[in-house]
Amino acid sequence: MTHWIADWEIKPVLSDSKKARVFSPVNIALAKYWGKRDVKLNLPTNGSISVSLENYGSFTTVEFHHSFLSDELILNGKPQPEKLSKVQKVLNEVRKASGISLFARVQSKNNFPTGAGLASSASGISAVAFAAARALHLDVSQSKVSEWARLGSGSACRSLFDGYVEWRRGELADGSDSIAHSLFTHEHWPLNALIVIVNSNEKGTASTNGMEHTRKTSPYFSAWVESSQKSLPQFRQAIAERDFLGLARLAESNCIQMHASAMAANPPVVYWQSQTMELIHKAGDLRNKGIPVFFTIDAGPNVVLFCEPDVTLKVKQELAEFSVLETKLGLGTKEI
Ligand code: PMV
Repeated sequence: MTHWIADWEIKPVLSDSKKARVFSPVNIALAKYWGKRDVKLNLPTNGSISVSLENYGSFTTVEFHHSFLSDELILNGKPQPEKLSKVQKVLNEVRKASGISLFARVQSKNNFPTGAGLASSASGISAVAFAAARALHLDVSQSKVSEWARLGSGSACRSLFDGYVEWRRGELADGSDSIAHSLFTHEHWPLNALIVIVNSNEKGTASTNGMEHTRKTSPYFSAWVESSQKSLPQFRQAIAERDFLGLARLAESNCIQMHASAMAANPPVVYWQSQTMELIHKAGDLRNKGIPVFFTIDAGPNVVLFCEPDVTLKVKQELAEFSVLETKLGLGTKEI
């Protein structure tokens, strides 16, 4: 059995509360979510495919108790009232489903460096959805938990699942078919991920603002949506066949298309810095030298490189001037 110390629990957990502790991973999209067809429900304009990362994520305790007078969020050791509303969107759904109206205290800690460019909302919000459902002993499917997590933060609906995960766009107005599921486990194709930190400052434009602004003002937005939706079967096939160069081409193209649509917004949304560009070229140069690696970039300047385990050392040697976090693909959310 693994032993752990719940050092994210700044306030003592009550012995008679309804509670659960979970770990939920960061996920990185290879086919990106960029655009909402419904802002309130976080329904996407296009489907997306991500990988769940091992080791990096959020340790979270959700606790319901009759003595709590309001919901409370303690994140990385500090009360975070400004981030509470996203969490409450999830808690309210879980309360509705259980018929239990108690307030909750959520204590959570991310184990990745702040500013690593890893969106903390995906791991944190998925952790809350899973832990709240467990704490109230709800007998619901992971799909339902995924739907609840999506309401707090779109990409959170993917973190619950193992390995390669697809979030379907869905067609229904209530979003009940816009949920994620695992396409393949991490063991199907155990790639390594190198998170290359270009700039550790908080990103300039939050993803929701960036995608709404792109949707409203970029002439490339509809082309992005059409092209990314059309490429999803090819992504599934490349992953099914463990076709590294095929996946590399698809993921890099998808990433560039997402950023191109944002850069074409008015005024432009530019997440890249000069080293971001340097790393894009480096991935191409390495492939030309016979080292299979590909990049992806989320709503920030940092770059995530993916490669097969046997070339990881070589890739790392090429990145000596950068600060790099190394990890691999892993499981989804689990109780701890
Ligand atoms: O779920 P959000 O609002 O954090 O948006 C995530 C957007 C990207 O990270 C850029 C793409 C993705 O699919 O994760």
